[in-house]
Amino acid sequence: MRVAGSPPLAGRPDPYAGPVPARLLIIHHTPSPSIHAMFEATRSGATDPGIDGVEVTARAALAASAVDVLEADGYILGTPANLGYMSGALKHFFDLVYYPCLEETVRRPYGLYVHGNNDTGGALAAIDKIVTGLRWQRAFEPVTVVGEPTRDDLDRCYELGATLASRLTL
Ligand SMILES: Cc1cc2nc3c(=O)[nH]c(=O)nc-3n(C[C@H](O)[C@H](O)[C@H](O)COP(=O)(O)O)c2cc1C
Repeated sequence: MRVAGSPPLAGRPDPYAGPVPARLLIIHHTPSPSIHAMFEATRSGATDPGIDGVEVTARAALAASAVDVLEADGYILGTPANLGYMSGALKHFFDLVYYPCLEETVRRPYGLYVHGNNDTGGALAAIDKIVTGLRWQRAFEPVTVVGEPTRDDLDRCYELGATLASRLTL
């Protein structure tokens, strides 16, 4: 027997804890100011004060783990285009989590932003192949920016973040 406000019993779910927030994980490689602006705009959208019940976590692609992915309900990926592909950092992330997450994360929603200085096509195609393998569901058109991000580009990043977070409240 336990009353509201007292600590939960060891090993038992706390019946007074209230609804558990959904979790949105932003996995990003952010090596420069341009893509940092895109990351910040995306995170601002995801944490828009009008969206309730979603916990947003950002992890550098080189630090994210399979447990981070398993514990989240939706994902935003952010990367520069590098040598016609995604960054090595994001590829490393996928190499690490692909098989541990393959069966557990099917149909989870994802969104994506890519920054490049001339052509982001190879990065987009490579990511598309991997998320198709994972059977994640695209919840927003990829935001791709070539060169200095404009106000409109950053607004699209904001919308990307807000859309993914809102999707988790449905
Ligand atoms: C090794 C290397 C490879 C790159 N390859 C590409 C590429 O294939 N396509 C592209 O659009 N940009 C490419 N870039 C540009 C980066 O995407 C860009 O530097 C990054 O998004 C950061 O933007 P900033 O340089 O404007 O700060 C490359 C940059 C580096 C350092």
